[in-house]
Amino acid sequence: MSGFSAAVITVSDKGFRGEREDTSGPALCGMLERYGWKTAYTSIIPDEYEIIRAELLKCAESDIALILTTGGTGFSPRDVTPEATLSVIERRTGGIPEAMRAYSMTITPRACLSREEAGIRGRSLIVNLPGSMKASTENLSAVIEALEHGVEILRREGERDCAV
Ligand code: MTE
Repeated sequence: MSGFSAAVITVSDKGFRGEREDTSGPALCGMLERYGWKTAYTSIIPDEYEIIRAELLKCAESDIALILTTGGTGFSPRDVTPEATLSVIERRTGGIPEAMRAYSMTITPRACLSREEAGIRGRSLIVNLPGSMKASTENLSAVIEALEHGVEILRREGERDCAV
């Protein structure tokens, strides 16, 4: 069981305006909690580059171990979550989106349309997920066990080795 803190940020213009119920955020929180993560923060924000950036920076500065975003990874001109994420991360963790897309392609050929990114800022790992409840939970399920091990290494003081 992870025991690390997590944030779930829903990025959706309609969700932010109250025109669409956010089902992805609560579903992701539920999945995290089943794996022992502690949801420390949730929010719903619009598809605005600067707002997404500020939200990610705030969570990283609060030392949240895992910061998930859901939404804004597709091809709409309003979909800018990956760009905002790339602007705040210091090290990319390309294997995470690779694994999520590879698994998701076994479910739908449209999985390749998610431009999701992931990376590290300080001691926080940021992972983008697509917006729908189905897509976001499927993507997270592909990597959730590996994320715990990654965060353990990220937050371990002064050691470089992968012990397990
Ligand atoms: N991944 C999984 N596992 N399941 C899905 O249903 N939907 C895809 C893709 N990834 C999907 C998925 C579709 S149709 C799109 S357009 C992209 O995620 C981007 O979604 P977003 O714009 O909501 O972020």
